[in-house]
Amino acid sequence: MDKILLITGASRGIGAATARLAAAQGYRICINYLRQQATAEALVEEIQQLGAEAIALQADISDETQVMKLFEQLDQQLGPLTALVNNAAILETQTRLENISAARLQRILATNVIGSFVCAREAVKRMSTAHGGNGGAIVNLSSAAARMGSPNEYIDYAASKGAIDSMTIGLAKEVAEQGIRVNAVRPGIIYTEMHAAGGEPDRVDRVKQWVPMQRGGQPEEVAKAILWLLSDEASYTTGSFIDVSGGR
Ligand SMILES: NC(=O)c1ccc[n+]([C@@H]2O[C@H](COP(=O)([O-])OP(=O)(O)OC[C@H]3O[C@@H](n4cnc5c(N)ncnc54)[C@H](OP(=O)(O)O)[C@@H]3O)[C@@H](O)[C@H]2O)c1
Repeated sequence: MDKILLITGASRGIGAATARLAAAQGYRICINYLRQQATAEALVEEIQQLGAEAIALQADISDETQVMKLFEQLDQQLGPLTALVNNAAILETQTRLENISAARLQRILATNVIGSFVCAREAVKRMSTAHGGNGGAIVNLSSAAARMGSPNEYIDYAASKGAIDSMTIGLAKEVAEQGIRVNAVRPGIIYTEMHAAGGEPDRVDRVKQWVPMQRGGQPEEVAKAILWLLSDEASYTTGSFIDVSGGR
């Protein structure tokens, strides 16, 4: 069976590393992105040069209509989905709760929680044996923040990842009999551009002293855990979490 994978937010960071590794493992890949069209298209070209198949589709996953269109385009261009990585997420400037507006909360939750839920819903409709599908696997990107709470930085973001943990547990149980496994990866502090959005591009190097392994992680190290959870090697694993956080 063809392995057809959608990775949301794959133009850079952990999503892009996952796309590269998945290409090497024979997946046909849809790289979703929000703004960075040139980077997403360059990644598609890089993957195609390795002899694998990839397409790039723009969609804002916080917008249900755009998600519906994304999945329809994917159906037409690649065929029936077998794997989803719910990777796209945002955070905003580091601050305390006193300074967090309802508008900011709505932005964070719309992308990180509602976007992931709606993408999971569309994936389940396609993969579930109850809907005529052949099963599949979903991996959600949670965060060590869900366990730690991210005080003084972004407890809104941390709470959005707590919601992802709950969704992983609940959905895994809901679709286990329908051929779908649902798991999550909780990265710690990883060298990506996400920290710049919090106002501190070099955050990993400041915080790494609190990591037992005394270093930040690389996106490729997270991608390996994601790909394992997607693979048949993890055939009896569902509703589970892998912490890729250097012991933190
Ligand atoms: N980096 C870390 O230390 C860390 C730690 C724990 C968990 N995580 C989680 O790991 C995942 C990936 O993080 P990262 O560090 O690789 O992030 P990143 O470098 O900031 O990349 C974010 C990606 O998401 C896309 N995106 C953002 N909003 C979107 C939207 N509304 N619709 C579609 N795509 C959207 C971006 O697209 P454009 O480039 O086109 O804008 C980009 O491709 C996230 O879920 C994050 O919470 C990261």
